[in-house]
Amino acid sequence: IKRITTETIRNMKFQGEKISMLTAYDFTIASLVDAAGTEIILVGDSAANVMAGHETTLPITLDQMIYHAQCVVRGAKRALVVVDLPFGTYQSDPQKALESSVRIMKESGAHAIKLEGGKEIEESIRRIVNAGIPVMGHLGLTPQSIYQFGSYKVRAKEDEEAEKLINDAKLLEELGCFSLVMEKIPADLASKVTAAINIPTIGIGAGSNCDGQVLVVHDMLGLNNEFKPKFVRKYLNLEDQIHQAIGQYVTDVKSGNFPNANEQY
Ligand code: KIV
Ligand code: NA
Repeated sequence: IKRITTETIRNMKFQGEKISMLTAYDFTIASLVDAAGTEIILVGDSAANVMAGHETTLPITLDQMIYHAQCVVRGAKRALVVVDLPFGTYQSDPQKALESSVRIMKESGAHAIKLEGGKEIEESIRRIVNAGIPVMGHLGLTPQSIYQFGSYKVRAKEDEEAEKLINDAKLLEELGCFSLVMEKIPADLASKVTAAINIPTIGIGAGSNCDGQVLVVHDMLGLNNEFKPKFVRKYLNLEDQIHQAIGQYVTDVKSGNFPNANEQY
């Protein structure tokens, strides 16, 4: 199988082929996401939410992200594996940002890193790119800044924030990022950014004109009925199916129906 590279991803924009990206945090799901033909697997710091049960993405550590990345890399035979730099491992200084990125690349075998922000982290991005590590940007509703935003509402609805986002997107391109995620911003703005830069944009809650789309795999599989923002399309309702299956197992154990004659030695 031929590996998807950052070059493949960049070329897809020029060829007008949409890019599909999903998160994964473990070997089994990564194998399924990979086999289904997804071009990019993101080891998102959303692992803090869906894997660890935290309310925000802030608590997850670099060691924990590396563990998830190692598991995903073993399952990804074709997809490009991108790993989030967790909160606090790149904002403080470029040296630290580079060291965090190098650890992810060396210890997990992943192919690229992602980080949140534009102008504020310019030097960190420059340093990482200069070391030969592919970087994916992330603008708009950047969850590591949730305490500054105060809520998960749509970002960049006002002109000032929209203008900053456009400038940040251009800067990310200039710095050598190979693509960028835009999260929860107006579709018109995402469309404008996508037309203004030559690197692919990957949207989540950013409309259909982005060069690609990303979702948290647990959301699109319907593993959490409580979480239903309108940008999530639920392709399955796994929560109900799993609830039913496990309920049946409990019933069968209690009734003595499981195991039956064929299920024992
Ligand atoms: O951590 C994550 O899952 C993400 C995607 C939603 C883009 O950053
Ligand atoms: Na993330």
